[in-house]
Amino acid sequence: MKAVRIHEVGGPEVLRYVELDVPDPETGEVQVRVAAAGVNFIDLHHRTGRYPVELPMILGTEAAGTVVQVGPGVDHLSVGDPVAFVLPHRSAEGRGNAGGYAQLVNVPTDFTLRVPDGIELKTAAALMLQGLTAHALATSAYPVQRGDVVLVHSASGGVGQLLTQLCVRAGARVIGVVSTAEKAALARQAGASDVLRYGDGDLAVEARRLSGGAGVDAVYDAVGRDTFDASLASLRVRGTMVLFGQASGQVPPFNPHSLNTRGSLTLVAPSIVHYMRTRAEFERRATDLFGLVEAGNLDVRIDRTFPMSEVADAHRYVEERRTKGKVLLIP
Ligand SMILES: NC(=O)c1ccc[n+]([C@@H]2O[C@H](COP(=O)([O-])OP(=O)(O)OC[C@H]3O[C@@H](n4cnc5c(N)ncnc54)[C@H](OP(=O)(O)O)[C@@H]3O)[C@@H](O)[C@H]2O)c1
Repeated sequence: MKAVRIHEVGGPEVLRYVELDVPDPETGEVQVRVAAAGVNFIDLHHRTGRYPVELPMILGTEAAGTVVQVGPGVDHLSVGDPVAFVLPHRSAEGRGNAGGYAQLVNVPTDFTLRVPDGIELKTAAALMLQGLTAHALATSAYPVQRGDVVLVHSASGGVGQLLTQLCVRAGARVIGVVSTAEKAALARQAGASDVLRYGDGDLAVEARRLSGGAGVDAVYDAVGRDTFDASLASLRVRGTMVLFGQASGQVPPFNPHSLNTRGSLTLVAPSIVHYMRTRAEFERRATDLFGLVEAGNLDVRIDRTFPMSEVADAHRYVEERRTKGKVLLIP
């Protein structure tokens, strides 16, 4: 079987599509023939070394496909089942030989779920890391309340479109922030009632104007360094800043006392790993997402698919800030 493996960290050129043997699945594992593997920002962080990993490493933190072998001790999945999985603990556990960017992969069943018949495998793959993250953000990191006004950065990205839809479904008004007119249209399509573009005036002033002067209830920000200050300045008294990524770089050290002087603000920096610590929590969130899709209440936009052999182009596409939904690799 073939898989995308890195032997050193670096640019997209370190990605190698190589022939490898895959062992039989171990206890508690199933072997999956991958139909579609998701590309996520975290894969870029693994590739560049921003998040330390054990080398060599097969990249990929999520995929969907069909079970082709069942390991000992697995009784709830069978050969032929359509499944989707997420591997959230990869950096921590150094599971270098199991990654989603592969034709075949052995995965633990803790974070593997049978895909309902009405849902395509590509959609299921797209709902794993980005969907689970959007779910955790909107229901747990800052649980959106009916009547809230929230600011969602990167509202046309993979997480952004799903998060915007979930916030709107919960009864919030979403102000999206994006970089281009094309992305603004997608943020509106996801349900944002207003969309701001970086560079068009002062973000915090605009966010305050659109929230009746008081400031927004919460900001979801995964851009990091470039937007952190403006995000804090957009919040109402006792508002919540949800900092869940660093697409533009890490936020430099700052004085926590400024959260007090700026209005007793709350800062939360969630990682999806801590919002699906058990099989039950993963299953609850994933089942919720599948249910929304089946009912026609959540639109999962597949932006681009790349042949797995063209993985370097897929990484460049994300790095060049061109994504407008999910990016998938097809083995
Ligand atoms: N904490 C967690 O557990 C967790 C889990 C999943 C994802 N994340 C984070 O969530 C963010 C979005 O992930 P995603 O999978 O939705 O990615 P995505 O679809 O590629 O969206 C990323 C968006 O970030 C915006 N962006 C702003 N500055 C950027 C920069 N310097 N370089 C690249 N993009 C930039 C771009 O939108 P504009 O052009 O409109 O600005 C881009 O479309 C990432 O930062 C990721 O690390 C965190």
